This record gives sequence, C-alpha cells and structure tokens, in this order.
Amino acid sequence: MSLIKWVDFQTLGDHRGSLVALEIGMEKAVPFDIKRVYYIYHTAEGVSRGFHAHHNLRQVAICVAGKCRMVLDDGVKREETWMSSPTRGLLIETMVWREMHDFSDDCVLLVLASEHYDEADYIRSYSEFLEGIRA
Ligand code: TYD
Repeated sequence: MSLIKWVDFQTLGDHRGSLVALEIGMEKAVPFDIKRVYYIYHTAEGVSRGFHAHHNLRQVAICVAGKCRMVLDDGVKREETWMSSPTRGLLIETMVWREMHDFSDDCVLLVLASEHYDEADYIRSYSEFLEGIRA
C-alpha cells in the first residue's frame, strides 16, 4: 500500500474565492482529534526540513500556498510527492520518516497534529528509526 495517503477537503467556494473549513470530529477529513496546529513558512532557499519520524504522532500536512516536495519512508519503501494543493492533506502515520525539500519562496505548509509537542516522541536518527521498525 502506498505511503502517500491524501484526504480531500470540501471546498466552499463562491464568486469571492475559496474556503476550506476543518473541524474536530470530521472523521473523513482528519482521522484524529487535532491537538496542535503549526505551520512552516519563509523556508530559506535550498533548505530541507523534517528528517525524523514519530513513535506516536499522526499528522495531516496541507500545503496552503506555494509548493514543496515531501518524501515519506517506512523503512522498506521510499515515496515522494509534490505538495501544492490547499484542498487536500497528506496523512502521515506513526513510524514514517519524513523529509521536506524544494520549498518555494511562498510555501506555507500547515500541519494538523494528533498530539501536543513532545520532543521525546521524535526519532531524529535514521538508523534508530530503522532499528525501531525492525524491533
Ligand atoms: P523541528 O521539529 O526541527 O522542525 P522540522 O521537523 O520541520 O524541521 O522543529 C523546529 C523547532 O521548533 C524545534 O526547536 C522544536 C520546535 N517546535 C515546537 O516547539 N513545537 C512544535 O509544535 C514544533 C513542530 C516544533
């Protein structure tokens, strides 16, 4: 099964433009209760981010402006996708290594998270990540 799992959002649009609303309890859009929201923007040219996995955290990442390239890796396969649509989110499950590359100047990557920030939940070493997968 592919690591690239999109959730499509309903777009509420009219002649003025577009709007996406995400609410807690919207099972189909976000398959967890959102405890935290953060966004990444003004990423310096040539910078890549991420390079970690999480033991327990689930996330939905939405590129609300611009574009970036997301790489996901479950220790067996490595897949990538461009993120450029504000009307769909990429579901990133637990124990998936993620890297973000090639941010456009105007990229705003919004992330919905299932847990509060917890540094202890991070796996920041790829070799440790592989050991965790195989344990
Ligand atoms: P980091 O996890 O390194 O970002 P990325 O994985 O996108 O490269 O986070 C950068 C800094 O921000 C780091 O010091 C931790 C802090 N941080 C928080 O305090 N709260 C948060 O919700 C997040 C995502 C990061």
